[in-house]
Amino acid sequence: MKNLTQFNLNDLVSKKEYVLIIGAKSDVAMAVARKYAKEGFNLYLASRNSDTLEEFASDLKLRYECHAQCLELDILDYSSHQFFYDQLKEEVIGVISAVGYLGDQKISEKEFMEASKLIDTNFTGIVSLFNIIALDFEQRKSGFICGISSVAGDRGRKKNYIYGAAKAALSTYLSGLRNRLFSSGVHVITVKPGFIATKMTEGLDLPKRLTGTPEQVASDIYNAQKKLTNVVYTIWIWRWIMLIIRNIPEWQFKKMNI
Ligand SMILES: NC(=O)c1ccc[n+]([C@@H]2O[C@H](COP(=O)([O-])OP(=O)(O)OC[C@H]3O[C@@H](n4cnc5c(N)ncnc54)[C@H](OP(=O)(O)O)[C@@H]3O)[C@@H](O)[C@H]2O)c1
Repeated sequence: MKNLTQFNLNDLVSKKEYVLIIGAKSDVAMAVARKYAKEGFNLYLASRNSDTLEEFASDLKLRYECHAQCLELDILDYSSHQFFYDQLKEEVIGVISAVGYLGDQKISEKEFMEASKLIDTNFTGIVSLFNIIALDFEQRKSGFICGISSVAGDRGRKKNYIYGAAKAALSTYLSGLRNRLFSSGVHVITVKPGFIATKMTEGLDLPKRLTGTPEQVASDIYNAQKKLTNVVYTIWIWRWIMLIIRNIPEWQFKKMNI
């Protein structure tokens, strides 16, 4: 009887659909993984030094009766991306990228290597992998692609304009991809967080009322995928904050210290 129950459970878990999460060690990605596991999906969790995610994956498996496999991925190692995607044993129904690098604006103004790392981590590397996945989804005529961009991409500020420029490029790329893949039934989601309390923002003095949790972002991503939302600001108030910021005339904006 025990064996039969075990067999049925394995069978059930194997039938769950797979979602690929990249940048899987990020606090936001881990919250997204918990959300999708809870909602009944199996997971591929891709990150650098993926062995450090094994404990997290085991916890997901126990808690949510799902498969959760850790995979090695460096978004800057472009030539590995095709092999990375081809090695997935099961077809994925969607990909979510939480890859990002806040970097150091001041250093990036003086040292191009830092500027280049910012641009390549937040933009070029994601384009390299998403291009491969987009071709597959386009042929299969299904799937969803979700990229976490940032409100920093909505308007350049002196405090973080290299990061912001890379995120702006990512948002534009996702917009074009959405336009291209719409007729193939593939949905593309652009996520624009304001502030989120994570490792990335540790030590920064963030305004509490404008700062979301990784769990709020995860829930917004899941709902956007279900409701086929195109662009999500998270937490929601950032849509209106950015509407105001985008509409400040340039002659005035250039004098502001924000
Ligand atoms: N926190 C915020 O306030 C905020 C606001 C707006 C947008 N965002 C965006 O939200 C996403 C998640 O950020 P987070 O706050 O959770 O920060 P985070 O913990 O720093 O997450 C970024 C993730 O990107 C991964 N990554 C960096 N370079 C990589 C590479 N070469 N190859 C593979 N993975 C790489 C990091 O991996 P390692 O763990 O190996 O370093 C890390 O797990 C990012 O795209 C970020 O830009 C965050």
